[in-house]
Parts: sequence; structure tokens; C-alpha cells
Amino acid sequence: MEFTGQQKEVRRWLERRRGILLAHNYQPGEIQDVADFLGDSLALSMTAAQTPAEVIVFCGVHFMAETAAILCPDKTVLLPREDVGCYMAATITGEQLKARKAELPGVPVVTYVNSTAAVKAESDICCTSANAIQVVNSLAPSRILMVPDRNLALYTARRTSKEILYWEGCCNVHDGLSAAEVQACQAAHPQAVFLAHPECRPEVLDLAQVICSTSGMLQYARQSSGREFIIGTEMGILHTLRTENPAKLFYSPSPRLVCPDMKRITLSDVINALKDNRHRITVPEEVRRPALLAVERMLAVPRD
Ligand code: 13P
Ligand code: SF4
Repeated sequence: MEFTGQQKEVRRWLERRRGILLAHNYQPGEIQDVADFLGDSLALSMTAAQTPAEVIVFCGVHFMAETAAILCPDKTVLLPREDVGCYMAATITGEQLKARKAELPGVPVVTYVNSTAAVKAESDICCTSANAIQVVNSLAPSRILMVPDRNLALYTARRTSKEILYWEGCCNVHDGLSAAEVQACQAAHPQAVFLAHPECRPEVLDLAQVICSTSGMLQYARQSSGREFIIGTEMGILHTLRTENPAKLFYSPSPRLVCPDMKRITLSDVINALKDNRHRITVPEEVRRPALLAVERMLAVPRD
């Protein structure tokens, strides 16, 4: 693929700063195309943990850059904009989790990575949408508290013998997708395979043939002999699905599957971030150390 002038400038600045660009699958297409690594939350955390690069430019939302800063305190982690939060991560604070834990002595806390460093620091172990079931099953106790996503917790509860308690958080983008919207899209495209993200409501997941993380969807579409797919997640992923599979058709079941925070970063923001070393994301040591333990425990859980 031929880079645009701005994309070439991004690559020049990355070379000059000995940096790498990590981008989430929901990022704008022009950012996905120029990235060194494109992935889901789990793959991006693992790449950040292993890269020898000195500078990591994180094109995603704040909690993702914070996870990279937790894993790599000696590297410079840059988030090209400061105003890229996550609705779900804002549904719980470290203080709220602390108070809930006091009501549930002996119950381990599994925290979805879509959370602040302060919440991770109060947790026993983290999980992502790609490994939630394995993480829960890796713990000995039979009762587990999952935060902050109610839908990921309900999805996991149906696939483990453990009792799952949960926090009433959600992603407004995924939680807003209705079963009626999916059924209408299925009626219009009866041959299509419906892939859904576990952040969707249970009644939406009940309609899915495949439930997986964003990278799981990319992998499934690559390998599938199917030709049509309905994609139950944020529609930024359609860019790479279509680029990688030009002979296949991808449909979004709702025009509202857009995460505004994931759409803010521009190529100019990336260039300015590398030029001016901004916005550097750091986590205070007293928060970083316990948060790191929770993330490292997750990374140590074997994947199926
Ligand atoms: P993935 O880990 O599946 O990429 O999901 C991240 C996310 O923010 C979903 O809304
Ligand atoms: Fe957060 Fe939802 Fe956006 Fe993912 S899609 S970053 S969970 S608000």
C-alpha cells in the first residue's frame, strides 16, 4: 500500500525517535494502515511488554496507553491526545472497588483491562475479552467478582462452573446494540455469519455464531470459507476486515456502533506527539506496582 505524505512523515518521525506505533483495531483506517502493530487489547499489551523500542506511540484510548506504561516504566509511552477516555473504564473508581471488596472478603477480583490503573491496582488479576474464561478458571476460589463489565461477566458466567459476581458497568457502544437490530441485519443477509464481541448484551450474544475479541474476529474472517459476515463490534474494525478480505462482504448491524473516543486521534496528532514528546503517560509507582502484578498474572495464564 502506498503511504500518503502524512503517513510517510509519521514513519520518518518513528524512525528518528526509535519508536513503534501500536494501534487498536477500532482506530481510524489511516492510523491502522501506518501502524507497526495492530491488535486487540491483549495483543497490544503483549507487544508493549516485549518491544525493544524506546518510544511507544499508543493509538487507542487512555487505559490502553496506561497498561503499556504499567508494563514498561522505562519506556516513553505517548498518547497522541489526552481526551481519549473509555466510557466503560469510567464506570468504576479504585475507591469504589475497594469498598466492594470490603463487602466480599476472600472473593478474588478479575478486572477487565478496560479500566484505570487505580482499579487494576485493587485487583487480583486482569483479563481481556480474549482470555476472560481462562483467567477465571485459573483461580482456585469458586466465587469471583468481575469488574467493570456486566456483559463480559455474564458471558463468562455461562461458560464456567464458578459463581460470578459483577459490577454494573458496560460499554455504551456495545451495550447499545439491540437484538432487533441484529435480527433485521440477519434477515437482510441470511447467509452471513454473525460475529459478536463479549461486551454485547446476552440476548445479542445468543444470536451469534462466533463470540470473540476484535483480533479473534480478524482471524476468523481470514480463515473462514464464508463470504458474508455481520460484525457485532465497533465499526473501525471493518477497515482492516475489508482490506484483508477483498472478496468477502462485511456488514455492521447498527450505525451507532461507533466509539467517539477511538476516532479522535489524527495523523497530525501522531506527528505532533513524536515531535513534542507528548502526551507522556506515566503511572505513580505505588499504583503501578500492584497494577503490574495483576497484569502480569493475566499474561502468565496459558491461552487455549
Ligand atoms: P478487544 O480487546 O477485543 O480489542 O476490545 C477492546 C475494546 O475496547 C472493546 O470495546
Ligand atoms: Fe471503551 Fe467501549 Fe470505546 Fe471500547 S468501544 S474503548 S469499551 S467505550
